[in-house]
Parts: sequence; C-alpha cells; structure tokens
Amino acid sequence: MNPVRFAIVGLGNIGSRHAEHILQQANAQLVAVCDTDMAKCAPYTALPQYDNLDAMLQNTTADVLCVCTPNYLHASHTITALQAGWHVVVEKPMALSVAECDSMIAAAELVGKTIFAVKQNRYNPPVVAVKKLLDEGRLGKVFMIQVNCFWNRGDSYYSQSDWRGKKAKDGGCLFTQFSHFVDILYYLNGTFQTTIGAAVANFAHQHNTEFEDTGSFVLKASNGAIVNFNFSTCSFEKNMEGAITIFAENGTVKIGGQYLNTIEYQQIKGEAIPAVNISVKNNDYGLYQGSMSNHDKLIANVVAVLQNGAQITTTSQEAREVVRMIQQMYDGV
Ligand SMILES: NC(=O)c1ccc[n+]([C@@H]2O[C@H](COP(=O)([O-])OP(=O)(O)OC[C@H]3O[C@@H](n4cnc5c(N)ncnc54)[C@H](O)[C@@H]3O)[C@@H](O)[C@H]2O)c1
Repeated sequence: MNPVRFAIVGLGNIGSRHAEHILQQANAQLVAVCDTDMAKCAPYTALPQYDNLDAMLQNTTADVLCVCTPNYLHASHTITALQAGWHVVVEKPMALSVAECDSMIAAAELVGKTIFAVKQNRYNPPVVAVKKLLDEGRLGKVFMIQVNCFWNRGDSYYSQSDWRGKKAKDGGCLFTQFSHFVDILYYLNGTFQTTIGAAVANFAHQHNTEFEDTGSFVLKASNGAIVNFNFSTCSFEKNMEGAITIFAENGTVKIGGQYLNTIEYQQIKGEAIPAVNISVKNNDYGLYQGSMSNHDKLIANVVAVLQNGAQITTTSQEAREVVRMIQQMYDGV
C-alpha cells in the first residue's frame, strides 16, 4: 500500500512534532514543508521547502496538510488546502469562532475531504480508562465535574512567538492553553448549554497579553451535571495541575497530574480501574511544558482512516462543538 503523503505548514513548536512523528510512522511520508520563516524549514534538508502555502500546494503532490500555524490562520489555511483537494489535520483550536469552523466544514463537504482535529489528550491512558468507565455506565448519574487547570506561562513563552497573547490571533487562554480541557470535559460528559456564573481577570500578564490569565466558570451540562471550570496561567514558576474530577452516583474519580496523566483518586463501585501514572511523556518545549505527547497516535489514526477506513478519533463537528463551548464561556463573562 502506498504511504500517506503529508506536508506541514507552520514548523514552530508543534509543527516540528508533527514532522518527527510523520517521519517515524509506518505508511506515512513527509513530502514538503512550509513556513514563512525559512529558518524553520532548514532542518528538513531532504525535502522541498516553501515560504508560502499557495506555492507548496501548487507544487506538491500530497494527501494531507498538517496546519500547525497560529490559531487565527487555521480556518484560511484549512480551507485553502481543502480547495486544493487535500485532507487536513488542524491543530487545536480548530478555529477562533464557530462561524470559521462552519466555513471549514462546508469546504470539506464540498470537496469530499476530511478534517482531522487534533485533540491528543483523548489518547491519555487515564482519559481512555475513565471514558470506558462512563461509556459502560459504571458511574451512573454524573452529579458534578470539577475541572482545574493551573499552568504557568511566563514572559519567555509570550516573547517566543508574535501571535501569542494577541486577542485577534491567539483568542485567549481557553483557546490556546485550556481547549484541551474543554475537549476532555466534552469527550467525557458531553456538552453544556447554560452558563450559571463566570469571572475572568488578568492578574500577572497585563504587560504581554490582551486577555485574561485566570478564570472561573460554573456551567450546567446538558446531562444535568454541575460543572466547575477553573483555570490560570499564573501557577507560580511551573505547571501545577491539569485535572478533572467526576462525582457520580456510583463513584468518584480524579484524572490528575500536570496534564491529565494520572488517576489520582478513585473510589468506584465494583472493580477499580488501573492506577495509571505516566510522568514523563509530556511535550517539553524548553521554555514551557505542554500537554501529553500523543501526536504519534494522531498521525497513526490519520493513516488508519485513510488507508483502512478506521474510525476518526476527533471529527470536525466535535472540534467545532469545543469552539462553541469556549465561545459560550467567554460570552458569559
Ligand atoms: N496540540 C498541542 O498540544 C499543541 C501544542 C502547542 C501548540 N499547539 C497549536 O499549534 C499551533 C502553533 O503553535 P506553536 O506553539 O507551534 O506556535 P509557533 O509560533 O511556535 O509556530 C508557528 C509557526 O507558524 C509559522 N507561520 C506563521 N504564519 C505563517 C504563514 N502564514 N505561513 C506559514 N507559516 C507561518 C511561524 O513562522 C512559526 O514557525 C497553534 O494553533 C497552537 O494552539 C498545539
């Protein structure tokens, strides 16, 4: 079987991870790279390199474009690639508004191509275990969910790239840092439609961000559960926690650690789930620490879907719903 041919636009922190995993993946081939900053393309000496997406699309025969550019470019880069007849892997967040997501989905439907959304935390072993528990109905009715994301983003993070911290290009912490957690909340418990309370403030990042660095939300999930969602990028000096605790009729379970990497607590009716604790496999970007590094599984899923008709891990409709939930949270402030 011919390998799935990938190209990448945007070779910063995450684009270079996509490259690494495509190069390691059986049945995948990296055929071209593009970045407006050609120095970012330089390591890929064996590949054609481009400083603009249109030129790469015109001169490259490939199956999939990985869109790893800043948030505000996801919609236009995705639509351009779809119109050129390519499938697209789009980094999180899918886009910065529901309207943009809808344009992307419409463009994909028009050409019959697929948008693969990046939500790599769905592959975290503790998330997989709790998802199974919920899908099997073992926890019964969910009463309350507590989401706590307390990370650190310092000056070096914001000075590293010119889009970070800009409202129009970055969107805010719920888009860039904590969309991972909105997605896992959605993945485990479904959506919410009601905001009961919301408060945000910019305590420590007024000199380098145009939006909040801290927020607290009370939401009512569509299944009736009360959701308490707290976040901050002000955790002193380092990431402290990225956790989701579920209180349900037949059990309490906490996925914790810095990035949803452990089962930190469980008291469940019946058999316990494995006590997973993964301490090393997160994305280390040097100046800051990110989520768990599961992009290998993401690329493997794209290959499996395109070659064998496997089930896609995160659809564009699901990623759109995450953007809608984020938009609703901000609208409630
Ligand atoms: N899934 C994850 O865990 C994860 C982690 C980090 C970042 N991200 C997402 O990935 C995206 C990129 O983040 P990053 O941290 O790698 O940013 P970055 O600033 O390190 O990299 C972005 C790259 O895009 C290039 N670029 C900008 N405009 C371009 C254009 N018009 N054409 C071609 N290249 C262009 C820049 O030169 C830069 O090299 C963001 O949307 C971010 O939210 C996801």
